[in-house]
Amino acid sequence: MKERKQLGVLGIPKLHLHQRNYLLLIFIFIFMITFPVIQAFDYAEALAKSLLYFESQRSGRLPYDQRVSWRHNSGLTDGLEQGVDLVGGYYDAGDHVKFGFPLAFTLTMLSWSVIEYSEQISDLGEYKHALKAIKWGTDYLIKTHTSPNVLWAQVGDGDADHYCWQRSEDMTTSRRAYKIDEKNPGSDLAGETAAAMAAASIVFRKSNPHYSLLLLHHAMQVFEFGDRYRGKYDSSVPEAKNYYASVSGYKDELLWGALWLFKATGNEDYFNYVIKNADSFGGTGWAITEFSWDMKYAGVQIIASMLLMEAKTKEETVILKQYRSKAEHYLCACLNKTHKNNVDRTKGGLLYVRQWNNMQYVSAAAFLLTLYADYLQNSNQRLHCEKGLVGPQEMITFAKSQVDYILGSNPIGMSYLVGFGSKYPMKVHHRGSSVVSYRENDEFISCTQGYHNWYGREEPNPNVLMGALVGGPDNHDQFRDKRYDYMQSEACLYNAAPLVGIFAKLHHLNNFSVASQ
Ligand SMILES: *[C@@H]1O[C@H](CO)[C@@H](O)[C@H](O)[C@H]1NC(C)=O
Ligand SMILES: *[C@@H]1O[C@H](CO)[C@@H](O)[C@H](O)[C@H]1NC(C)=O
Repeated sequence: MKERKQLGVLGIPKLHLHQRNYLLLIFIFIFMITFPVIQAFDYAEALAKSLLYFESQRSGRLPYDQRVSWRHNSGLTDGLEQGVDLVGGYYDAGDHVKFGFPLAFTLTMLSWSVIEYSEQISDLGEYKHALKAIKWGTDYLIKTHTSPNVLWAQVGDGDADHYCWQRSEDMTTSRRAYKIDEKNPGSDLAGETAAAMAAASIVFRKSNPHYSLLLLHHAMQVFEFGDRYRGKYDSSVPEAKNYYASVSGYKDELLWGALWLFKATGNEDYFNYVIKNADSFGGTGWAITEFSWDMKYAGVQIIASMLLMEAKTKEETVILKQYRSKAEHYLCACLNKTHKNNVDRTKGGLLYVRQWNNMQYVSAAAFLLTLYADYLQNSNQRLHCEKGLVGPQEMITFAKSQVDYILGSNPIGMSYLVGFGSKYPMKVHHRGSSVVSYRENDEFISCTQGYHNWYGREEPNPNVLMGALVGGPDNHDQFRDKRYDYMQSEACLYNAAPLVGIFAKLHHLNNFSVASQ
């Protein structure tokens, strides 16, 4: 009888033990190259680091408990030329301009993170740090509001600042301050500043009631100023236009400010404002797939939809439902559940809005998805999309996929949160991070010396900008870790702010599912 190979089930030849081991290895190998980075992330660590980032961006006299030790005092004469004290606050990104508009948005998002996820943040021992991150910004916002109808919009000049590559501690560029007032209005800036102060007033209500009231008082006044004297702030402060132009106008910020004031005060007037202006301000008209420092409509619509219980008349219900349908459009577009207007994704699965600093849209979207999923979960509802109903779990899973992409679960295995994981951007476009620390060498480094000696270096930045979220990869999931590539390798305040809430939430979920197994 001719020897035949013994056949196993399905006719696959039975293999010897060592052959089977070999096959197993091949399977594992194929699995690993197909799913390269299935791993659990330490969201607690990510949260702690993201809060450190705000300390790196501090302007002014640093406090005794400053943890980021490569930084030192800076910007100590901000406002002096104009006779106002504008010392403090945050530098916006890799430069040293204090742009009020994106700063206020950052503080609204940080406060929102803390309002929604305070317990989870507390459980991780980061509550105090989160409050300090907010207060460092709101203390400054209070300073910028020098009288009822005057709000300082910006300190420093973008063009002059960008001409230099210098540590903030050595700054020699113009620190001129720019303001809005009755004759030079800025309803967008005022609306966002009101939102930030109102949101922060909720955060501090228990722990610091006096401060909370102070914030609320300013918030109401700033809102009234912005509402009464209408205009776009970048027409009044043309120096802001090349950097933070208010493309969407000011109507979204007025609705946004009113909603936050309603949340903070419960005063019906603000609620009525959001109802009355729903249509004329585009609140129920705009279906937009971007949520950002400029474009607040999705945020407005999401908060408004959660107020349906507040409706007292049929008409109010109808309007709030219109808000809700636009909010759903935004969320469904992120989830690829509309027929036509979905947000693009990279092959690696990352939401992709645009080339320059795309990560800001990712972290903001992940935040809104997480938040709304919680809301749906708690009210036993589901999301209505054109392609069908979506449950809260699916929304959270998608938000988590975006956060995990940020932390390294992506085709090139890069963590876009600086200092997190084993592979992260080493040449962040950031003046302070890329120049020798002031603590190590306090010899003055001039405007152009910085460019000559530090900017073009091939070596990694000497100071790790811990917890910063950089602009991120291109639409092919590729990332150039180059200091000159400010579209990809620069980090901004508002990129990181929404992460604080999501990291806390995801850690809680992780821990909960582990504990319940
Ligand atoms: C989005 O949905 C379309 C059609 O429903 C599908 O063909 C496409 O693969 C989806 N995109 C992603 C990234 O899931
Ligand atoms: C995580 O779960 C463990 C075990 O249930 C619990 O003791 C711990 O307090 C939890 N930690 C956090 C930060 O929730």
